[in-house]
Amino acid sequence: MAIRKVGVIGAGLMGSGIAQTCAQSGYETLVREINQPLLDKGINRIHSAWDTMAQKGKLTSEQVAANRSRLRGTLELEDFADRDLIIEVILENMEEKIRLFTALDRLLKPEALILSNTSSLSVTQMGAVTKRADKVCGLHFFNPAPVMRLVEIVQTISTSPETIEEVKQFAVSLGKTPVLAKDSAGFIVNFLLIPYLLAAIRMLENGMASRDDIDIAMKLGCGYPMGPFTLLDYVGLDTTLWAAEAIYEEYKDPLYAPSPLLRRMVISGMLGKKSGKGFYDYAKEK
Ligand code: 3HC
Repeated sequence: MAIRKVGVIGAGLMGSGIAQTCAQSGYETLVREINQPLLDKGINRIHSAWDTMAQKGKLTSEQVAANRSRLRGTLELEDFADRDLIIEVILENMEEKIRLFTALDRLLKPEALILSNTSSLSVTQMGAVTKRADKVCGLHFFNPAPVMRLVEIVQTISTSPETIEEVKQFAVSLGKTPVLAKDSAGFIVNFLLIPYLLAAIRMLENGMASRDDIDIAMKLGCGYPMGPFTLLDYVGLDTTLWAAEAIYEEYKDPLYAPSPLLRRMVISGMLGKKSGKGFYDYAKEK
C-alpha cells in the first residue's frame, strides 16, 4: 500500500515533533488533540520550528508554506477514516490506548496500519483489541523527534513481516534509521538508558557527587551531548518514571526500581523542562 495520508493522535511534545517530521517529509498529516488550546499549542510549536529553520536558511519560504499546507489539526477521531497510517502518541496509559485502538480499528479502512509511539507499554496488548493485529506495531521516536535520527520498530508476535517492511520504508522516508526490537518492556534504548538515569539519581541522593559534577562528568568524560540530569529534565521526569515502572513491572529487576526522589519530584509537579523545574530550575538557571 502506498502511504500518503498520515494521522498523528496526540500533539504534545512528542506528537507535535512526529507530526512535524511527517509533514516536512511530504506526507499529508492530520494531528489530533483532545481540546482546542492543546491542539493550538501543538500546531504553533510546529509552525515556530519551521520558522526557526527558515531563519537559519534550512527551509525556503515556499517550503515552509508547503509544509504548512500538508499539516492539519482536528479534535474529531472520525476525521482519521481516510488515513493510510496512524501513529498513536497519547499518554502512557494502557486503558486510554486500548479505548483508542478499539475505536480506530472500527473507523479505519482494513489495510491501514496502526503504530504506537509508546516507550514501554505492551504493543501486543494494544494490537490484541483490534481485528488487525498483523498491522499493528510500535514506532518509537526519540526526543526531539525531528532531530534524533533513530526510530525503534517494535514487532509483536502478531505483526506481519509485510507490516515491518512497510514501516521500515516509511521510517527511512522520514530520514530516520530504523532498528528492530521485540515487544519487551524498554525495547533497546530505554532498557539501557533508564538504569543509567536512575543510577545518576541514586548517586545524587547518596551524596556521592553534585548534580553539576555528574552532568559535566558524563558530557566531558563520555562525550554524551547532555549529562543525565539535563537529559532527565529534557525527556520529562514523568516519562522517565512511567518507563522505569513499566520495565520494573515486567522484570522485577531492582535496576529499574524508581528512586524515592524521582517519585516525589513527579508527585510535586517537578517534571523537568516542560514544567519549568526539575533537577534544574529553568526560570533561574538555564
Ligand atoms: N525541529 C527542527 N530542528 C530542531 C528542533 C525541532 N523541533 N529542535 C532542535 N532542532 C535543531 C536545532 O535548530 C539545531 O539545528 P542547527 O544545528 O542546524 O542549528 C539542532 O537541532 C541542534 O539543536 P541546538 O543547537 O538547539 O542544541 P544542541 O546542539 O545542544 O542539540 C540536542 C540539542 C539535539 C537535543 C542534543 O543535546 C542531544 O542530542 N541531546 C540528547 C537527546 C537524547 O538523548 N534524546 C533521547 C532521549 S530518550 C527518549 O526520547 C526516549 C523516551 O522514550 C524516554
